[in-house]
Amino acid sequence: MKRIGLLTSGGDCQALNAAMRGVVKSIVNSGEQVELYGFLDGYKGLIYGNYRMLDISDFTGILTRGGTILGTSRVPFKTIREPDEKGLNKVEAMKHSYYKIKLDCLVILGGNGTHKTANLLREEGLNIVTLPKTIDNDLWGTDMTFGFQSAVDIATQAIDYIHTTADSHGRVFIIEIMGHKVGFLPLNAGMAGGADIILLPEIPYDLDKVIEAINIRKERGARFTIIAVAEGAISKEDAKLSKKELKEKIAKSKYPSVSYEIADKITKKTGQEVRVTVPGHMQRGGSPSPYDRVFASRLGAEAGKLILKGEYGYMVGYKNREIVKVPLEEVAGKLKMLDPDAAIIKEAKMLGISFGD
Ligand code: F6P
Repeated sequence: MKRIGLLTSGGDCQALNAAMRGVVKSIVNSGEQVELYGFLDGYKGLIYGNYRMLDISDFTGILTRGGTILGTSRVPFKTIREPDEKGLNKVEAMKHSYYKIKLDCLVILGGNGTHKTANLLREEGLNIVTLPKTIDNDLWGTDMTFGFQSAVDIATQAIDYIHTTADSHGRVFIIEIMGHKVGFLPLNAGMAGGADIILLPEIPYDLDKVIEAINIRKERGARFTIIAVAEGAISKEDAKLSKKELKEKIAKSKYPSVSYEIADKITKKTGQEVRVTVPGHMQRGGSPSPYDRVFASRLGAEAGKLILKGEYGYMVGYKNREIVKVPLEEVAGKLKMLDPDAAIIKEAKMLGISFGD
């Protein structure tokens, strides 16, 4: 008999439910008896003892369901050791919830911030198994996170839609794509959507080069240009600023995001009409893609296997086409970024895609 807690933390993404279903089904199908406790709204549920007892029926029919049946929230790691507004010690409160219901382990689904807290709980002596979720694919220790491929599909579709209207009007279009501080999502959606220019956080751009690429297309007879801009894209000048200077600059900026700044500057320099589209949280929404359904189910099943063997302190990840267990201390606190010299960037350049560098 195993008492298992589950929680989803941080920004949601597709296939969270599919992954939890994978964990639970694999354990139940092994014949092991389980008691399941779902903590609500991420670490908040664990801190304040908010949970719901679940049974296998809660995990049927959710393979295709987006979001998370448990709810989620962001509880920043940097404040986790600070008492809450009523003076509650959050770390002790989480341990208390865990021990009060005599959990054998806690399954945590999350991204970067979530993994820092998961590792802290492991250091505090709790049995933890984690699963890698995020549309950003920026989690260390795994080549792929679930949610990523679904978001690539949605962002690509957004670019596909923009293509036809951009062509009709002969406009420059910017599509701003999520990904936080890394470029996996904008790069893949940009390439899949046939973007002409892709601006990424890992390759600071020079606006003159961006304009040069637009002009070259015009000279060749193209009526429109599609620019996929990562929400974390940065200019060469801004890349020279310190973290603090950049933060101050962004706080004072009149633009809602980097895409609007780029659009305004292109118009001012060229007189060219530019439109901005921001698909935003659509990229995290809806049903998981078939890839993510399979991928998250596989990760979930492997997490179930670890739990049955009593192997704790790991994230179940994906390396070199294999599902692997990665020690939490290796994952926590590191960011996986795109390598600007990666083959995919070179190949994109061979296709004529400009990175504005
Ligand atoms: O980490 C996932 C993500 O969607 C990022 O791509 C984006 O920067 C961020 O979350 C948005 O966060 P929020 O949902 O808190 O606005």
